[in-house]
Amino acid sequence: MDLRPAEVTSILEKEIESYRGQSALQNVGTVLSVGDGVARVWGLDDCMMNELLEFAGGVRGVALNLEEDNVGCVLLGDVTKVKEGDQVKTTGRILSVPTGDALLGRVVNALGDPIDGKGALSIPAEDYLPIERPAPSVVERQPVKEPLQTGIKAIDTMIPIGRGQRELIIGDRQTGKTALLIDTILNQKTTGGGDPKNPAQVLCVYVAMGQKQATVVDLVGRLEKAGALAYTIVVSGAATEEASMQYLAAFSGVTMAERFRDEGRHVVVMYDDLYKQALAYRQVMLLLRRPPGREAFPGDVFNLHSRLLERAAKLSDEAPKINPRYKKGGGSITALPVVETQEGDVSAYIPTNVISITDGQIFLESSLFNSGVRPAVNVGISVSRVGGNAQLPTMKKIAGGLRINLAQFRELAAFAQFGSDLDKATQATLTRGERLVELLKQPQYQPVPVELQIMLIHAGTSGGLDDFPPKLVQEFEKAFVEGARDGLPDVAKELLTAKALSDGAKAKLDALIKTTKAQVLATHAEPEAGKEKSPAASQPAAAKKDKKQGHA
Ligand SMILES: Nc1ncnc2c1ncn2[C@@H]1O[C@H](COP(=O)(O)OP(=O)(O)OP(=O)(O)O)[C@@H](O)[C@H]1O
Ligand SMILES: [Mg+2]
Repeated sequence: MDLRPAEVTSILEKEIESYRGQSALQNVGTVLSVGDGVARVWGLDDCMMNELLEFAGGVRGVALNLEEDNVGCVLLGDVTKVKEGDQVKTTGRILSVPTGDALLGRVVNALGDPIDGKGALSIPAEDYLPIERPAPSVVERQPVKEPLQTGIKAIDTMIPIGRGQRELIIGDRQTGKTALLIDTILNQKTTGGGDPKNPAQVLCVYVAMGQKQATVVDLVGRLEKAGALAYTIVVSGAATEEASMQYLAAFSGVTMAERFRDEGRHVVVMYDDLYKQALAYRQVMLLLRRPPGREAFPGDVFNLHSRLLERAAKLSDEAPKINPRYKKGGGSITALPVVETQEGDVSAYIPTNVISITDGQIFLESSLFNSGVRPAVNVGISVSRVGGNAQLPTMKKIAGGLRINLAQFRELAAFAQFGSDLDKATQATLTRGERLVELLKQPQYQPVPVELQIMLIHAGTSGGLDDFPPKLVQEFEKAFVEGARDGLPDVAKELLTAKALSDGAKAKLDALIKTTKAQVLATHAEPEAGKEKSPAASQPAAAKKDKKQGHA
């Protein structure tokens, strides 16, 4: 071979020119002790808080306790592979998770690794974001202004939620907390037709923490069947996972949501639930020997929850000008944290913490749930402090009196059990309340579009149902919704855009209420008249009651 010195020189020169010294400093330490999913490591002097560590055997860990002579960390993954004396390396990276569109429709764990068997994700390195990031500052935010429709009558009418708000769902076990979340996800389909590419589509991130895996599988199945999984990310920190993975899942979830928010999209994040997250956190922290405080939770459990929930925000339209981190202004993250209470005790440590961090709470009560009032929302102590600003004006007008009506009803109903002689006003409140309670009942997986909600509530609050048997209110609702869907599209449109309900629309609604009532009564009176005793008795009983009201 014939070597040309000029060519060799030029190649060498080019190489030298483009040479960039790449020296990476890597700290290497040794495992001092390991057990229960936590390890103490000696020799990692330059380790950062929350830094990802690499153990021999490919197991990863996160540094959580930076002490004078050692680092305490939690292990993520197969903890049995780590032994005393093993080498540990720092990575220079804060724990990060993948983000972006590719995650929609997937079920992932706290590290963003898919666990749904639909194949690996190929996410470029720049789409990995650290799970701990600062929340938007005051100037980067704006007050809520768009409604987040849950499709649940009792919530959208009386406890309205705005995009960017943090609304707590609190209640004992088995009171329908998760059910509210699922219905909210299903209802977001109305925003953009369920197409994640549609910029109007509200995206959902559901974080399961400490849940049974069966519950998560069930939820995913539900969403898939309803075509709602396409715009949802499920982050699962199920009860079978390491406690560290359970509590980190919430931060992974909000990080994935932030990516969309910073691109101008609207996202709902659901943490189901923060009580179990706190338990997992307590377990990890006690193993790391942090001192226990109230109820044996570590002192920073409040910080854990506020750090998480502060990241929910409605971004200002000017946000990109203030901070280049935001690609587009106006996006939002609405947070719906769930807290499980024990025996309805809202004054326990974790419930009071989260109540004080959020913008309101929806309180679900076992006694209501068991008596058939589902969703079991206790209207008296449920509030939404900011969502009212975002409620549709027509809804605000029509549902305005609903809360007070119901509260009065609850109070009087307790009395009325004893007395028989009730004055006219009391009787009227009871009559109205009874029908409103029926009207607000709602089966699972059937979110109601907001315009239909307004029409239904109008039927109740206008007194249109006062002379109608409460037992048939749900039949009425079914027939009425059908009638309104087919017959009143113009009224529906008006309700969504107008400031107030016009007289013309009101007349149309009232006419439909009247005909629907007659129709339902007719179909239910006939078979009952033919039968004997008990079914027949219900009709005259209703009639008698009405007569009594007339006399009183
Ligand atoms: N509106 C509803 N109508 C009828 N059944 C409902 C309704 N909401 C919830 N349920 C049923 O009640 C049960 C409990 O609901 P869900 O699992 O949502 O409660 P939870 O408070 O999340 O329970 P857990 O504390 O176990 O997480 C479920 O079987 C669910 O199907
Ligand atoms: Mg649940």
